[in-house]
Amino acid sequence: MVIKSENMQHTDVFNIIGNTPLIKLQSLSNDHISYFAKLENYNPYGSVKDRAAYWMITDAENKGILKKNHSIIIEPTSGNTGIALAGIAKLLGYGIEIVIPEKASDETKNIIKSLGAKIYETTDDLCPKVGSGTDQSIALATSIASSRPQIYYSPNQYSNEANFFGHYTGTGPEIWKQTNGKITHFFTGVGTGGTITGVSTFLKEKNPKIKIIAVQPQLNHLIQGLRNFEESAKPELFLKREKVIDDWITITNEEAFCEVKTILNNDNVLVSPSSATVYAAMKKYEFQDSINENYAVGIFADDGRKFKSIYVNQDVFTSSEFDAALLKSKHMPKINYI
Ligand SMILES: Cc1ncc(COP(=O)(O)O)c(C=O)c1O
Repeated sequence: MVIKSENMQHTDVFNIIGNTPLIKLQSLSNDHISYFAKLENYNPYGSVKDRAAYWMITDAENKGILKKNHSIIIEPTSGNTGIALAGIAKLLGYGIEIVIPEKASDETKNIIKSLGAKIYETTDDLCPKVGSGTDQSIALATSIASSRPQIYYSPNQYSNEANFFGHYTGTGPEIWKQTNGKITHFFTGVGTGGTITGVSTFLKEKNPKIKIIAVQPQLNHLIQGLRNFEESAKPELFLKREKVIDDWITITNEEAFCEVKTILNNDNVLVSPSSATVYAAMKKYEFQDSINENYAVGIFADDGRKFKSIYVNQDVFTSSEFDAALLKSKHMPKINYI
């Protein structure tokens, strides 16, 4: 799971993206419902967005848009896509510039910089806003890209079909196989909508009865990577296949942060705010009694490592409690932040 050299071949990168583990959340499971977490922090750059980044870069290469040691990739992102694009671009020989809301955690921004990316900060909310007139990060990335189109390329994860296909051909089939086709409920948060539409389109083709539950944080939330759709317009990629969603659950900051400690104490995993949000939704969801064997799968998009400053600010942990949690946590694979 470790990328060793900058000379690594394309196929080597591909081989270590995806195929992430699915773990059973023993403490939450009971006779009628088995709960599982898909641990996306096992991707080489630590999150679910490695999939979208890899697929969008490969797609642009196949279309002849990107040229090694010449092209610069520029993208608006709340963090994980920036980390993934920066890591993969560095490995494959492309320049990289990231437009990011200033409220993203300092750790996230430092990781992106350490991977060699130039950063532009905007005053957008935690996630780049979508929709003309409100979107600073997207507008800035687009205007820089269009100023020198022969050099710059913006994948635009908010409308790029390759983002959808990464999950339709990867994450979805993995979950189906890992649950032996027994999955009954799928839970995930929504950023661009790539994960929820890609995974759910695949799962519904296999079994239309599978329930898809979209998880959103409260208004004015502190959950990096996720959107609340009362305050943020829906991205084009999400709108295209929005009908796959059966239910929505909204989780408050407090509900999510409270679960960070629960998951650590019960399952020995130090999760990110967005994973705690998904966990809280799985716990809150009212399963129908008529189904005896429920298999609920939630996406844990990344882990807690880069959220120390947020957890300390929100009084989830003191600084030393966070360090102890990190030592105690299982499922912390080495991530390639060089
Ligand atoms: C931190 C984080 N990033 C990204 C995503 C999913 O994003 P997208 O909708 O862009 O696939 C999630 C979803 O749970 C998330 O928690």
